[in-house]
This record gives sequence, structure tokens and C-alpha cells, in this order.
Amino acid sequence: MENYLLDWANLLLRWLHVIAAISWIGESIYFVMLDNGLKKPTDEPSIKRGVFGEMFAVHGGGFYHSQKYLTNPPFELNDDVHWSYWKSYTTWLSGFALFALLYLANASIYLVDPAKMELSGAAASAIAVAFLVGGWVVYDALCRLISPTMNRDGVLSIAVAVMVIAVAYATSHIFQGRAAFLITGAVMATCMSANVFFWIIPGQRRMFNDIKAGRAPNPLDGKRGKQRSVHNTYFTLPVVFLMISNHYAFTYSHEQAWLIMSLIIVSGALIRQFFVLMHAGKKLYALPAAGTAVIVAALFVGAPQRALESAPVAEAAPAASADGSAPAAAVAAAGVSYDAIHDVMEKRCVACHAAKPTQPGFAAAPAGLVLDQESVVRANAARINTAVKSKYMPLGNMTQMTDEERALVDQWVSAGAK
Ligand code: HEC
Repeated sequence: MENYLLDWANLLLRWLHVIAAISWIGESIYFVMLDNGLKKPTDEPSIKRGVFGEMFAVHGGGFYHSQKYLTNPPFELNDDVHWSYWKSYTTWLSGFALFALLYLANASIYLVDPAKMELSGAAASAIAVAFLVGGWVVYDALCRLISPTMNRDGVLSIAVAVMVIAVAYATSHIFQGRAAFLITGAVMATCMSANVFFWIIPGQRRMFNDIKAGRAPNPLDGKRGKQRSVHNTYFTLPVVFLMISNHYAFTYSHEQAWLIMSLIIVSGALIRQFFVLMHAGKKLYALPAAGTAVIVAALFVGAPQRALESAPVAEAAPAASADGSAPAAAVAAAGVSYDAIHDVMEKRCVACHAAKPTQPGFAAAPAGLVLDQESVVRANAARINTAVKSKYMPLGNMTQMTDEERALVDQWVSAGAK
């Protein structure tokens, strides 16, 4: 019952999280487009009023005329101006709640990979949270130290990229692959929301209050808000990839997962840059071309090695049977019998993959796969093989599946899952 309710909590939080993120990122992309698409006004009254730029648009059955003033609007500021922050905060809060519910609450299942680092669940959770907080502290320090008056934003963006790749590398060597991708995405997303919370909104509030009180606002507040918004825009595509990556085991379960992750992050930023410039009227096709080339590089890095350590199965199996893995007899020259596969599933998979899992924390068979049923195993043979070969399954190798058993599954599937 409790697990059933947790599944509902997961569903509802995820629903909220995705909707909040769409609203936030949609609005952010809209404003970047608006900002970069602004044209100098040509009519005398607008020029006189000090309009910095304007855009005409048609949408939803009507016509819009947006005008941007920098720090000197020539009119009384109303209290009912539209502020953008709840979308950002809701995205972060729902995302963190989801992360806590799924990963932190079951850290030994979802975070820890004993093959990388022998951590307790509590230690892994503490390190994960430290990444989120530390990521922001380091990123913010980089911004303040390298480009305090937004004078060296180019150097800063390189430093931020290096930092993100360092996070990708470190998390990939500490946590399970899936968690490493998610935490790297969450580090970037935390910087994005913290930019809004600690700099963009407070800066805008100061400007707003100064203008209302008839004081000249500090232009640095405006410039800093812009700097952080620009970072946020380059983070968006990579973060969205990292958040959906948990469906793509071939990326995060690879030995060079950190490199694949880094390449996709770079590619996302390059492609975003194309759109940013395009809104300003420049179509630099070299950018998406470079982004595509980087993805192709990731594709090559991630290409599966053939015949995983499966060659010496026949010799390895007898030794392995001592520790309880499949008997050597099953690997006869004639092929692998389903019985042997059934044994492997029973031993290594059905604690989770059963109609009523015995593994604490599971209410139903994950991914709907009930692996104590022959028909299900046969129907999903290829999928099972991919998950097992890449070592994505069993999660965190909780059930200590051996390489010989993986090779056995590979042989059975390669021979047609008879
Ligand atoms: C500790 C619990 C656990 C164990 C043990 C486990 N799994 Fe899973 N399995 C999961 C979870 C959770 C998911 C869903 C993960 C996701 O959403 O990507 C999953 C998903 C899968 C998928 C679907 C992956 C995909 O998206 O294509 C396959 C196939 C799979 N498991 C096979 C296996 C096999 C085979 C074994 C045994 C060798 C096994 N699992 C052992 C928890 C487990």
C-alpha cells in the first residue's frame, strides 16, 4: 500500500515538474527570442520615450507590440508588472522532491554502484546533495571572480563549461550511470534556479524600487541579470537531455559515459547558440553542423563493443557455479536451454521484476516486466540482453549477477531465445 502511494506521489510530482519546466523554459526561450529580436524603433514618439528596442508579433488572433526600456522607462511603474520566478522555483522544488523520493529515499538501489565506489546509501545521498550545493557555490564564485562587471563573459563561459564537464566526470565515477546523468543535470538546473533566486529577481527588485523612488538604478543589476539569463539559456538544452536520459541506458551505462554526457552537453549548447543568434537575424549554420558533428562523435564513443567478455564462457562457467551461478552443463555446445535462463532470472531479477516484488521499495514489476514468466522473457529477449550486457541491469548489480550469467543470456538470445 505504501509503495502504491509512493508510486502515485512519483507520478504527480513528475507531472507537475514537467509542466512547470515547460512553462519556465518556454517563457525563458520566449524572452531570449524577444530580447534578441528587438529592433530599434523608427517612429519619433518611441525614440523620444527612450525605447531601446521593439518587436511586433501576431499570435492567438491578435497583434502585439512589445517595447523594451533598459533602466529608464518614462512612465510610472505599476505594481502589477509581470514577474517571472514561480515557474522556476516550482520546477526546482518539484524536481528536488522527485529526486528525494526516488533516489535519496532508495539511495542504495539507485545511487550506489559498488563497482565504482563502495558507499552506504546515506553517504551517497549526502554526496549527491553536496554536488547540488557545491555546484552552485563554485559556479557563482566563477561568475563573480572571472567576470564581476560582465566584462569577461567569454572567458567565464569556458570556465563554466569546464566546471560542468568536471561534474560529469566526477559523478560518473561515483554514482550509478543513470544517477550520474541526473545529478549532473540537477547541478545545472540548480544553478539556473539559484540564478533566478539569488541574482536575477533581487537585482530586478532593486531596479524596480529605485525607479519607483526616483533614484537611478544600478546598471550592473540589469547587466548581471542578463548574464545569468544567458547562462540559463545555454543550460536548457543540455538539462532537458540529462533529465530524459534515464530512458537511454546505452548512454549512461557506457564505460565512457562521462564523455558521451559531456559531448551531448556541448552539442546542446552549440545548437542553442544557433537559435540565439538566429533571433538576432544571424543564421550561423556552422553551429548546428558542429552540434551534429559532436553528436556523431558521441555516437562513435558509445558504440557497443561486440562480443562483450562472452568468449570464454565455456571455461568460466564451471568456476562460476561455485558461487551459485548457472551450471556449466547448461552451456553445452548445442546451446543454452531456457531452464538455465529461468534460473538466472529467478536469482538475479525477480526480486524486483515480479508481479509482487520482494525487493523493498517496489510496488509493481519495474518497466512492467514480470521476468518469472517464460513468455515475457522470450518476448523481451533482445531488450533483456541489452539491459544485461550494458550492466544497466540488475540496477547497481544489487543481486550480484556474474559476467558468466550475462554471457549466458547473450548466448541464449543470440541463438534465437529458444
Ligand atoms: C533492484 C531491482 C531490480 C533488479 C534486481 C533488476 N531490475 Fe530491471 N529494472 C528495475 C527498474 C527500477 C527498472 C526501470 C528502470 C527505468 O525506468 O529505466 C528496470 C527496467 C528493466 C528493463 C527495461 C529497460 C529498458 O528501458 O529497456 C529491463 C529489460 C530489465 N529491467 C531487465 C532486468 C533483468 C534481465 C534483470 C536481472 C538480470 C533485472 N532487470 C534486475 C529494477 C531491477
